[in-house]
Amino acid sequence: MNLNNPPALDSPLERQRKHVFFPWSKQNSAKPFHIIEAKGVHLTLLDGSQVLDFNSSVFNANLGHQHPGMQTAMIEAAKHACVTHPALIHEEKIKLGENLARITPGKPYEGLVKSFFCLGGAEANENAIKMARLVTGRQKIVTRYRSYHGATLAMIGYSGDYRRIPFDGTVNGVIRIPDPYPRGSGQSIDTIRLLEEILEIEGPETVACILLEGVTGANGVFIPPPDYWTRIRQICDKYGIILIADEVMSGFGRTGKWFGIDHFGVEPDIMTMAKGLTAGYAPLGAVIVTDKIAQHFENETLWCGLTNYGHPFSCAIANAAISIYEQENWIDNAAKRGDELAQLLQALKNNNAYVAEVRSIGLLAAIDLRKGPHDERPYVSYRAQGEEAEKAQALQSALLSAGVYCTVRFGTLILAPPLCVTAEELKQGIDIISSVLGKILSSNA
Ligand SMILES: Cc1ncc(COP(=O)(O)O)c(C=O)c1O
Repeated sequence: MNLNNPPALDSPLERQRKHVFFPWSKQNSAKPFHIIEAKGVHLTLLDGSQVLDFNSSVFNANLGHQHPGMQTAMIEAAKHACVTHPALIHEEKIKLGENLARITPGKPYEGLVKSFFCLGGAEANENAIKMARLVTGRQKIVTRYRSYHGATLAMIGYSGDYRRIPFDGTVNGVIRIPDPYPRGSGQSIDTIRLLEEILEIEGPETVACILLEGVTGANGVFIPPPDYWTRIRQICDKYGIILIADEVMSGFGRTGKWFGIDHFGVEPDIMTMAKGLTAGYAPLGAVIVTDKIAQHFENETLWCGLTNYGHPFSCAIANAAISIYEQENWIDNAAKRGDELAQLLQALKNNNAYVAEVRSIGLLAAIDLRKGPHDERPYVSYRAQGEEAEKAQALQSALLSAGVYCTVRFGTLILAPPLCVTAEELKQGIDIISSVLGKILSSNA
């Protein structure tokens, strides 16, 4: 191909398709969507249609789109940012370490105290696991079946999510445990008791860490029972296992508190974060650890690092996002709107025979659909292929055409609007979802 004279191609979609991969898709049937304008909770698509973004882009735009404060911060950061070096001393990096020590669990500056920076959630989890292995000298990692911890080879391998299946067998020492409760079980099964038994069989002295999402995100918003985290904490303390909370999705106000685990009053040994950390305005991930873990690395090498470690631009954007969450009270707003969302979802369930269960915490919610009014099986079964899987895609497309963008995974809708969503926008979105569910599902009957 003559690079000086690339062939004329027509639409941006076709130009992109030619030289850039679409993630998580068969390339010939990828369904990208083309946003030409975005503001707050609203997206304008190429065909001019208006859509409510109930996905916060990819669960990261917690402050909404084109936030003026974030735009100003980006311009200012660009003026002062410099070419980075991992060992660089920089005011924004210092400030972000201080900010995270202040807002994460434990008394400000006392619980989780020292941060390591990287570029996203998967890298944060990988570095957290490396630290847990370095500190304990143990190898095994416990995760849950319904979990997603990132797409790198190691993190997809440790996740339970169906996307690990092509790579199964790549990582060693993973022990997957059941979720807080099985779908539709009404929290009646004591899965922590199962964990204890599994640890007994595996040998708890071989386990480096238990890695759990604060609240399960993309795998279905399974909100743990009230004593769940406390009991996990007790098990970790008993066996010297490091407790890692993955707050990549449930962090930064998503659940109505700074972090999902804050609802349970438990301090993990390590917390990972990304997404809402910069509200999607720059790539950044972080791992924050207790003083005890930090102390371990005073005299032992921390075998972790990367070129863009603590990039000044991304750190400045994270600092700006944290000050906007605080000054504009978006976390309180998420809690208030979350109560309204819970009520709207309950009404949706009462009025729609295909809705099997609704779950929500703050502005993170799931709607489980069933096959039929009298058929309790999931609307689309887990790991469905072919025609059955297309039913979920068709539902997502119908929702988008009607004006709501959200994730539809198998038989479950995941909702996560930006924290700045208004009561009216929530109602409008749920009305749209209700009407689409009514039409699509009854036409399938
Ligand atoms: C809970 C959780 N952990 C980790 C990740 C991976 O983050 P990233 O895509 O930034 O690597 C995600 C992404 O969706 C996530 O939801």
